[in-house]
Amino acid sequence: MKTVIEPFRAKVIESIKFTTEEERETALKLAGYNLFHLKAEDVIIDLLTDSGTSAMSSEQWSRLMVGDESYAGCSSYFRFKDTVSKVLGFEHVLPVHQGRAAERILFGALVKPGQHVLSNTHFDTTRANIESNGAQAIDFPDSGNREFCGNIDLRAVKRFIDEHGRSSIPLSMITLTNNSAGGQPASLENILAYAALLKSHDIPLFIDAARFAENAWLIKRRERPELSVLDIVRQIFEVSDGCMMSAKKDGLSNMGGFIACREADLCDSLKQNLILTEGFPTYGGLSGRDLECIARGINEALEDEYLLYREKSTLYLAQRLNDAGVPLINPPGLHAVYIDAAKFLPHLEPRELPGQALVCALYLEAGIRACEIGTLMFGRRDLQSGAETTHSAELVRLALPRRVYSQSHYDYVIEAVCNVFDRRSFLKGLRIVQQPECLRHFSARMEPIENSFTHQSGVSGGVGNYEC
Ligand code: F0G
Repeated sequence: MKTVIEPFRAKVIESIKFTTEEERETALKLAGYNLFHLKAEDVIIDLLTDSGTSAMSSEQWSRLMVGDESYAGCSSYFRFKDTVSKVLGFEHVLPVHQGRAAERILFGALVKPGQHVLSNTHFDTTRANIESNGAQAIDFPDSGNREFCGNIDLRAVKRFIDEHGRSSIPLSMITLTNNSAGGQPASLENILAYAALLKSHDIPLFIDAARFAENAWLIKRRERPELSVLDIVRQIFEVSDGCMMSAKKDGLSNMGGFIACREADLCDSLKQNLILTEGFPTYGGLSGRDLECIARGINEALEDEYLLYREKSTLYLAQRLNDAGVPLINPPGLHAVYIDAAKFLPHLEPRELPGQALVCALYLEAGIRACEIGTLMFGRRDLQSGAETTHSAELVRLALPRRVYSQSHYDYVIEAVCNVFDRRSFLKGLRIVQQPECLRHFSARMEPIENSFTHQSGVSGGVGNYEC
């Protein structure tokens, strides 16, 4: 059969509440044009994030009753640890309540003020947790290989090490897949060469493993078809010293994460902070039932049928948007489709927040909630001068929760994006009227700019797609 179907069927369903355009207009105004302020029940299709939004399997739900809630030494911890050790090959595994807690604890132990941590691209909480230790997070993305735009630039890494010296780099990272750069994968060749380079300088490699299974699948599809996904995963993690994982993505769980490493001494020092801030090392901020769900989820996320369906459903959405001429980052990764809002709305300048204007338009059109990754998220207002910095890319991420939406939901999204695309030249920009000092996209309030057609009053001609 050529048709790839969802390798599951529904047993429990969650009803969607439908809203009218008028109701959405009111909700959007009340939310200050910031979709983080919406009530989730006012959203028809929620593509804000793929994090913690997966549908769990009946096998996972059944583990809830098996969960051992003992404070210390619960059997759920040992099942969880055995799974992580078996799949990723690390002896020491510490649970945490989510990915950023792993970042805080690991960098708190390893990173000192003035030092540098390198990566293909740090996710925003990763960067913030490095910077809160007075160190710098440096990105070296390499988009030279179309199929592996998540690669790290090895020449730039080598140059940096030569210039700054090993002692200024306590550890180096790679994010799999590279979420902040369009959810693109890194190739096995690139990961192994990076690990060898770091090893030759005695710099530990830690992997941000949030979407490790999706990265391994794309390696299988695009680079090493003869290997199994599990073999690829083992080859990746074998050359690393440890990893941080948000289990809310490829752990197919609604909450949780972990740090895993090889060195007993490092694990012991991490445990001190873990006990202080998360909990006893055999539960680390999670209940026993969460540990059970993650253990099961990690195995399910590595199944070929699941990963093939994941690939095909993301491609289905991306291909139809590509066919309609909607500018996307191509090829798409697995966890999201990224629209290039700067090309979608060329009449809006970055300071007029084209990504957010598109996000609001999609909500008004069809109740779809997406996420801006551009000047609203990464721009800054200088508190003294009031000057705004803008971001180099204006993207809108349609993040795809795992095992949640079907093809007809995607057809609905495609229709909505195409409708907005047809009247793109009429979309107005936004201005920020209230914002906090940091991570402003979560809480800023905005209003439409009435006359924001600064460059031209309409869009003519095609706006082709562009490569990552
Ligand atoms: N690393 C990556 C690559 C991530 O994408 C995220 C979260 C984290 C770390 C932090 O994990 O949320 O469990 O604390 N990404 C979510 C997203 C929030 O929407 O992309 P967390």
